[in-house]
Amino acid sequence: MKKVLLYVVIALVVIVGGGYAALVLKKPAMNPPSALKVEATAERLQRGKYVFEYVADCGGCHSERNWDKFAAPVYDGRAGVGFVFPPELGFPGKVVAPNLTPDAETGLGSWSDGEKLRAIREGVSKDGRALFAFMPYTHFRKMSDEDANSVVAYMNSLPPVKNRLPRTELNFPVNLMIKFAPQPVTTQVPVPDHSNRLKYGEYLVEMGGCTECHSQLEKGKAIEGKEFAGGHEFNLAGKLVRSANITPDEESGLGKWSEQRFVDKFKGFANMTYDNAPRMNQSNFTVMPWLPMSQIPEEDLRAIYTYLRTLKPVHNPVEVHPPLAPPAQ
Ligand code: HEC
Ligand code: HEC
Repeated sequence: MKKVLLYVVIALVVIVGGGYAALVLKKPAMNPPSALKVEATAERLQRGKYVFEYVADCGGCHSERNWDKFAAPVYDGRAGVGFVFPPELGFPGKVVAPNLTPDAETGLGSWSDGEKLRAIREGVSKDGRALFAFMPYTHFRKMSDEDANSVVAYMNSLPPVKNRLPRTELNFPVNLMIKFAPQPVTTQVPVPDHSNRLKYGEYLVEMGGCTECHSQLEKGKAIEGKEFAGGHEFNLAGKLVRSANITPDEESGLGKWSEQRFVDKFKGFANMTYDNAPRMNQSNFTVMPWLPMSQIPEEDLRAIYTYLRTLKPVHNPVEVHPPLAPPAQ
């Protein structure tokens, strides 16, 4: 009897240990990077700047920003140089948004355009490592081929900045589970029809990270039925803000907002710059990318509004700025 038990235990150890070893060795789903060399046309540089700086806010994560000023504008000359996220954000490990400038040693200078495209839309780094999905590649996989090419053309045009950063190191078991997140993009992704406001608005919302920030998350995903209903807490630099409810709920969301009010809210920040941004304290603390997003053309803001109006209204009153910062942890 004892012997049987021993065999069972050994079998279990072999199965579990084998499974673990297989996970450690597992590579994420990936295709080789494409051999495409992106041509930098004037049109692409302009569109790439728009997507990179204003809509997808790549710069928001991959830059050094001044958290003492409203909405944390990017320090002069530090756009795209990368950023080490502070531990108080509660990530499962050390998370670093790498240097995206074309510096050969510390940035993407030695990457092919195909490797950049694969990282952005498919979540695989140059060396085949799965990227932590806080980098929104699960959304960016819907980025059109042309927009993705434009972003790469724009990234290639950034001034190279030497800024050596550590690498992301995720804790167990996230370091193993993350290998399941990358997925190759195997079909062409056409340019969305800009004249179809609803569809284009949905596209911009997908690129703009609105879902992640404006939903309470569970295991990194929006809680079902509460998408866009706000309440996601950002606890940073000793301050706290909760995202607003942007569903069309009359009382707790944007239900009473006219399209013009929505546009004006964004455009109200259009002349704010690094130099004239007011100080940020608990009462005006925000992580909403107001400065970049205020540069989105009015037509595109209207498209975003059109899409947001079609969401299910969710009643969820949010106190965006609680009166006091929470006690330091
Ligand atoms: C919400 C924050 C966030 C946003 C927005 C974001 N990134 Fe990232 N990005 C990251 C993080 C964090 C990593 C590193 C993940 C890791 O190392 O596992 C990363 C990794 C990358 C990499 C791989 C670099 C390397 O050395 O492996 C590229 C390329 C990249 N991002 C480009 C972009 C572009 C282009 C955009 C906008 C279209 C963008 N990112 C938007 C957070 C972000
Ligand atoms: C990095 C996180 C983040 C991203 C990305 C983000 N938001 Fe926000 N947003 C916030 C937070 C936090 C607030 C509340 C504080 C404030 O008003 O500044 C907010 C406020 C707002 C408000 C003001 C609502 C009110 O009641 O005053 C609107 C409108 C809004 N966001 C729309 C959007 C849209 C549309 C997108 C995507 C295109 C988006 N946000 C992307 C974090 C984010």
